[in-house]
Amino acid sequence: MKQNLTIALSKGRILKDTLPLLEAADIIPAEDIFSSRKLIFDTNHDNIKLVVIRATDVPTYVEHGGADMGVAGKDVLLEYGAKGLYEPLDLDIAKCKLMVAGMKGAGEVEGRMTVATKFVNVTKEYFARQGRQVDIIKLYGAMELAPIMGLADRIVDIVDTGNTLRANGLVPMEDICYVSSRLVVGKAALKMKHRQIQPIIEQLAAAVDARK
Ligand code: ADP
Ligand code: PRP
Ligand code: MG
Repeated sequence: MKQNLTIALSKGRILKDTLPLLEAADIIPAEDIFSSRKLIFDTNHDNIKLVVIRATDVPTYVEHGGADMGVAGKDVLLEYGAKGLYEPLDLDIAKCKLMVAGMKGAGEVEGRMTVATKFVNVTKEYFARQGRQVDIIKLYGAMELAPIMGLADRIVDIVDTGNTLRANGLVPMEDICYVSSRLVVGKAALKMKHRQIQPIIEQLAAAVDARK
């Protein structure tokens, strides 16, 4: 008998790249996700459902078994510290970098540096590894504004084209890590639903390879 399977998808910019990969694995939502206010969607399989949630909530759902598997950015996974999650596949979408950035022309910071970010844990770890002392200010978005307003010396944020930095007079300064979206599977799900999950992972992997 087929068990029920729930897949958590990040709403926002990852979703439109995720759906074609799922479709290649023969998982197709029963209705248009983008024009619906629903949070949970049926698919072409009776036993497979999709939940569409905030990117930062995906690891929480998957770790606690609220969803069996999910799609999330490596940035979100690093920040969450996902101990109870397997990461079997790089989906090779939403590729970008986590970087340190600051105002163009900003010199070295004397003494303690203030860093604004929504990636508090990643930032702490990055600077601690280098033995640099920083004060971190937690923000929820528009990090690029912080140095302009004198809130922080530096930011740690996602950079893709660099357009947002440039448009606000900032420059990239240090690479922290490469980011792309990953398939994650909960520990319990991998144990209990392995026979169902494995073929999905394989079909997704084939779809990822086909796009390369
Ligand atoms: P949020 O509302 O949490 O910022 P997004 O939909 O903007 O969510 O981002 C989801 C994921 O997409 C991020 O966790 C990151 O992995 C990736 N991402 C964010 N911004 C960009 C970007 N400008 N270019 C490419 N990928 C990005
Ligand atoms: C993301 C990120 C940067 C920008 C980088 O913001 O936080 O601000 O994209 O992309 P770029 O280098 O191509 O300009 P997003 O548009 O997701 O805004 P939000 O997360 O603050 O809503
Ligand atoms: Mg964003």
